[in-house]
Amino acid sequence: MVETIHQQESLLVHRTERATPYSTNYSVVAYQEPKEEIEQNRCPEIRPLEGNPLDADEILLFFPIWWYTMPMLIRTFLESIPDWKGRTIVLFTNSYTNDPQYMENAMKDAKASAPTAHLVEGLFNASPKEHIRFLESRWKNAAK
Ligand SMILES: Cc1cc2nc3c(=O)[nH]c(=O)nc-3n(C[C@H](O)[C@H](O)[C@H](O)COP(=O)(O)O)c2cc1C
Repeated sequence: MVETIHQQESLLVHRTERATPYSTNYSVVAYQEPKEEIEQNRCPEIRPLEGNPLDADEILLFFPIWWYTMPMLIRTFLESIPDWKGRTIVLFTNSYTNDPQYMENAMKDAKASAPTAHLVEGLFNASPKEHIRFLESRWKNAAK
């Protein structure tokens, strides 16, 4: 998805990765590591960011739903900027189940981790086409 949009627009893309990679063992990564991070409210260390997110007018934040909400390493990313200075962050997420509560949970967590950002609910479980349509319309309106 990010790659598709990236091909169409000149965006600076940053991939958030845990400093210590998650296990390659499926049952550990699916049922243990991220679950424990959420249960213990523990933000894992992430690899250093390339560039300064505050240089951007708008951040498009894509992440999967892990255990009903945003992964804790995304919260580490948000908390790595002490003051978002009113920058806009648009949330895009997807999950296996189509439960609208997940976006609400993610918005709530994002608010706690980036209280000074202007958070916008983007899309939940949308197709690549829907993402492109959403962003094109957003950018067209911003250019007016
Ligand atoms: C650790 C973990 C936890 C997950 N928790 C949920 C969940 O609570 N609800 C759900 O519908 N899907 C859950 N999923 C499925 C992911 O949301 C789904 O695989 C993901 O959105 C697919 O995007 P990706 O290809 O970027 O990983 C989970 C997946 C993983 C790996």
